[in-house]
Amino acid sequence: MSNFDPNHLGYETFKHLAKDPSVNQHERVGFPAWYREGKVDLIFEDILRKCSHLNREKMRILDIGPGWSDLTKKFLDHCSQQHHEVVLIDCQEMIDLIPSYPNVTKIAAKFPEELNNIENLGEFDVILTYSVIQYPFVETSLFKFIDSAVTLLKREGQFLAGDIPNISMKKRFLASETAKIYHEKFYAQDGNLFPEPIFNQLESDQIDDGVLMGLLVRLRMSGFHAFLLPQQAELPMANRREDLLVVRP
Ligand SMILES: C[S@@+](CC[C@H](N)C(=O)[O-])C[C@H]1O[C@@H](n2cnc3c(N)ncnc32)[C@H](O)[C@@H]1O
Repeated sequence: MSNFDPNHLGYETFKHLAKDPSVNQHERVGFPAWYREGKVDLIFEDILRKCSHLNREKMRILDIGPGWSDLTKKFLDHCSQQHHEVVLIDCQEMIDLIPSYPNVTKIAAKFPEELNNIENLGEFDVILTYSVIQYPFVETSLFKFIDSAVTLLKREGQFLAGDIPNISMKKRFLASETAKIYHEKFYAQDGNLFPEPIFNQLESDQIDDGVLMGLLVRLRMSGFHAFLLPQQAELPMANRREDLLVVRP
């Protein structure tokens, strides 16, 4: 039986998914196939637009939580083509799946707590962590994760925490007329009830507007530019996920 359950994912679960031959490449990194199938080019274009230094040559790039799927391959092929030097950090089981590239160093560790001297990684022009920060938010400390990452940015370096599920954004969508039309068109015929949003309740395992606004203010007050950016409308979860871009001035 497959270990894949999109509602119960975490660092430990990904170790099992990486070794599970019954899951497909999308499930291995936590998504039902319909979410990512045929969308990888669009997702990568969106990343390139936000992390513009990826389009330069000979940059130092860190990817925290790359997993192993077509998106990782696209990213690594692009980095080879641009002669970037790349460091990847993920659990041993995911790292073992990623083929060797001459320009890529693979580190098996949980970021940041399993890295002894994080400053030994050196500084980076781009740090990418895509569809990842929801896990340290629940499991360890989101502040520690983000603080440790942005500390590694070079001058004018870019940190993109992409594809952040924001429960407030999802509820705003579900409370809209658009969501009702969407439901009628795609889900109602299968007997699915409309998922009415519930407001005014504490949800300690969900990133919401409060968390993201707090992060923005905190990063800005610590000397970094910080922006919340929308995803391209064609991306599969653009109505409930957004991206955090941090730039060291
Ligand atoms: C949802 S997958 C995303 C994979 C890839 N970035 C993508 O978007 O296709 C999350 C990945 O982050 C890794 N991960 C989660 N927490 C991590 C941490 N603290 N340090 C390093 N990797 C982590 C998981 O092992 C998994 O491979």
